[in-house]
Amino acid sequence: MDEMRYLTFALGKGRLADKTLEMFERIGITCEEMKDKKTRRLIFVNEELKLRFFLAKGPDVPTYVEYGAADIGVVGKDTILEEGRNIYEVLDLNFGKCRMCICGPKSAEELLRHHELIRVATKYPHIAKDYFYNKKHQTVEIIKLNGSIELAPIVGLSEVICDIVETGSTLRENGLFVLEEVCPLSARMVVNQVSMKMEQERITKLISDLKKIVNQ
Ligand code: PRP
Repeated sequence: MDEMRYLTFALGKGRLADKTLEMFERIGITCEEMKDKKTRRLIFVNEELKLRFFLAKGPDVPTYVEYGAADIGVVGKDTILEEGRNIYEVLDLNFGKCRMCICGPKSAEELLRHHELIRVATKYPHIAKDYFYNKKHQTVEIIKLNGSIELAPIVGLSEVICDIVETGSTLRENGLFVLEEVCPLSARMVVNQVSMKMEQERITKLISDLKKIVNQ
């Protein structure tokens, strides 16, 4: 019989990876090496199960998976939508739940309603463009930022923002409101399209094991 090849996982760094490893542990997949918070190593192996894990920046996860450098990835739906890669989204892991929203001061409600040519600051230009152009048929100017998006309407860079809302506290503390909801978000498992065929048995088993614990 052929030697089993390694299945490689790309995990989005941070809370997402911690949560994912917790879930994997519950279905008997462990990676002790990865629990060492001080390590600077980038890749971790479970020899017994023939699995490899690496941590990447969230937006890079779909890239690794599309090119087959990782067979499987775990990443937020926001990143999947923004990156638009050719990958299969196979499972909603049901954690990291939040919403993509259009937010701003109350005064921006009018501007949205009247389809005014407003500025939208966001870390997610593709999602914002798709929402305003394709769903709302509203022409807007999109301004790409890299973080602390809530600043934009406060300092007058834009009228509204398109950003993630989880607890809503960042908005509240800055006097901003959810004005429209774009879509719900959560962590998703994604799979390389070739791996899905070549490693169908192992990947299908993994998906069905995870499905059993996802809603518990
Ligand atoms: C995210 C998002 C919001 C905030 C929402 O930012 O962009 O700013 O979290 O969470 P809340 O509704 O619970 O307040 P993040 O902390 O990832 O940092 P960023 O400013 O670099 O985007």
